[in-house]
Amino acid sequence: MTRPLIVAIDGPAGAGKSTVSKILARRLDFTLVDTGAIYRCVALEARRQGIALDDDARLEGLLGKLTVSFHVEGEINRVFIEGEDVSEAIRTPEISLAASSVSSRPVVRNHLLEVQRRLALSATHGAILEGRDIGTVVFPDADVKVFLFANPEIRAHRRFEELFQKGTEKPIDQVLDEQNRRDKEDSQREVAPLKPAADAVQIDSTELPLSEVVQQIEDLVQSRRRA
Ligand code: DC
Repeated sequence: MTRPLIVAIDGPAGAGKSTVSKILARRLDFTLVDTGAIYRCVALEARRQGIALDDDARLEGLLGKLTVSFHVEGEINRVFIEGEDVSEAIRTPEISLAASSVSSRPVVRNHLLEVQRRLALSATHGAILEGRDIGTVVFPDADVKVFLFANPEIRAHRRFEELFQKGTEKPIDQVLDEQNRRDKEDSQREVAPLKPAADAVQIDSTELPLSEVVQQIEDLVQSRRRA
């Protein structure tokens, strides 16, 4: 049986992974797996159940019962825990930091490894996975690997705009501070830290319009299909 084509898009927060992945998934008719959203669901449930973010035994219990699913609605990739739509609840700044914390626990990463692989391998045509360790750990043999990055100031600026659009005004310095904390936690953790795979194509989106980034990745996918 042939495996669906796997596209790994890794990089730090705010580099444009989500926007680019969504557009690409639609254009190519691929399944989109937002792996950060899965870590966010674990963090949200831990908070709701009063579980400390370093309590491995209770986190393991939670993971055994957690069912996360996705449903694309137009421009929005909705996220559900059981039947509950948690798309907004998982995007608060508090849950962003909590997700970064739970993602450093090996018990969480090991469990989610299989969840992510299963979601991708059940795709009909192909799957785009966006995250931090897709090309290094989840699918080291992905067909296309991209590491998307941008300078910290422009990433914080994009996040500031996104929050502003949603009606939240937060000083840009604070956005940058929280982003730096998360970048540091994500890239310095012992298990599966954020880093480009040796064979990833690195794309700097600092001065590149996202439409151009999408085009570059689509070209990589098409040339892989032809190969
Ligand atoms: O992409 P995001 O900001 O929604 O991810 C939330 C957190 O989850 C992020 O701080 C790091 C973690 N994460 C991870 O460790 N590995 C992934 N593949 C995806 C996300």
